[in-house]
Amino acid sequence: MKIGVVGLGYVGSVTVAVLAEAGNEIIAVDVDRDKIESLSRGEPPIYEPGLKEALTRNRENIHFSSSFEQLRGSAACFLCVPTPNRGGKIDLSYVVSASESVSSVDANTVIVIKSTVLPGTASMVRERAGMRVVSNPEFTREGSAVEDTRHPDRIVVGSAGAPEAQLVENIWKFTGSPVLRTNNENAELIKYASNAFLSIKISFINEISNLCERIPGGDVEVVAKGMGMDRRIAPYFLKAGIGYGGSCFPKDTEALLSFAQEKGDPLKIVEASRMVNEGRISRFLDMVKRAEPPSNATDISVLGVAFKDSTDDIRESQAAKLVRALIPLYRSVYFYDPVVKTFEGATRCGSLEECIQQSRTVVIATEWPEFGRLSTMGFTGNVIDGRRILSPDISEKFYAVGLNHA
Ligand code: UDX
Repeated sequence: MKIGVVGLGYVGSVTVAVLAEAGNEIIAVDVDRDKIESLSRGEPPIYEPGLKEALTRNRENIHFSSSFEQLRGSAACFLCVPTPNRGGKIDLSYVVSASESVSSVDANTVIVIKSTVLPGTASMVRERAGMRVVSNPEFTREGSAVEDTRHPDRIVVGSAGAPEAQLVENIWKFTGSPVLRTNNENAELIKYASNAFLSIKISFINEISNLCERIPGGDVEVVAKGMGMDRRIAPYFLKAGIGYGGSCFPKDTEALLSFAQEKGDPLKIVEASRMVNEGRISRFLDMVKRAEPPSNATDISVLGVAFKDSTDDIRESQAAKLVRALIPLYRSVYFYDPVVKTFEGATRCGSLEECIQQSRTVVIATEWPEFGRLSTMGFTGNVIDGRRILSPDISEKFYAVGLNHA
């Protein structure tokens, strides 16, 4: 099938690779010519495990272009363009302009909205562009986006018409994943409700972790494990730490809150989850300062600056916020991240080994599994674990989120 994908960021470039791998002819369009050029050379502009390999393996099925004209004759066109927040509100201008560009080329193409958009957006696009519009939100996580797109937990297909819903269902049939068919509005809300719920789970365990720090012998890892053994709760997204970041949770919860407010039914639990998340860095900073009092004669090392492991994305990264907060407090801040190469105001080390040699205090800010090696490196300084990846017996000077030593 000839399929278009518009917007080649994290979601779009992975969609291109996976749909090409399934045997489709993909027209991959972005208005950014530099991006098209680097993708055509086989260089994705982002780091995502398996993406470069998948694009290379399937390059015969992919045509990169900055011209919408190439989309003519596509059965469906996936919109994967950004929906940023401006002043707390979602900006739909990229979705609107991309859909109008597609409709001006071929009015028979089915528009498939993958971008995260508030309920009512697909109907608005349908009216403005005069096209058939299917809502097909993505639930992929950065760092495992290729695998998540190949094998999603579910495929949500929202549509006003059965033939276009069937078309999209057929496109994803190769995944073997269960399909939920509904209207556009429910599909749009499923995406926000899912992200908001996951962010609530994280903030909940982070508040429990605060409590653990106040209870002699308290350890949030054990409490989360005990909770997660209940199948109704499940063990996922109960990892306490310095809070959630990234391009989705902060942005989507903010957009959902202002949408709910406007509708007259504010979401108090989502609001609370955001407040808890906003307090994570200052609380963790206090822990760091207690272990290593700030001084302009002291250096400090931070492991990880991305918002999570297996990505180079520092958008809304809690780790990046922490590094920025540490810079004015210490003489030098050293960092090591397996894929992030530069960070303004901090000095990058080429390896974990080099980083821990720079100072007597090491702070773990991103959950890269590689940092677990610290436990076998004989480091005797302060270790402050903001992601609970090390075992508490690593050092006498071990401090961690959600852990009380007494
Ligand atoms: C998220 C959703 O998981 C995905 O379904 C949606 O499509 C996009 O947003 P992503 O932002 O890539 O994906 O990463 P995710 O793995 O969800 O982690 C988000 C943040 O939460 C990270 O900062 C991570 O460190 C933090 N997190 C996650 C925790 O602090 N604890 C956890 O238990 C899980």
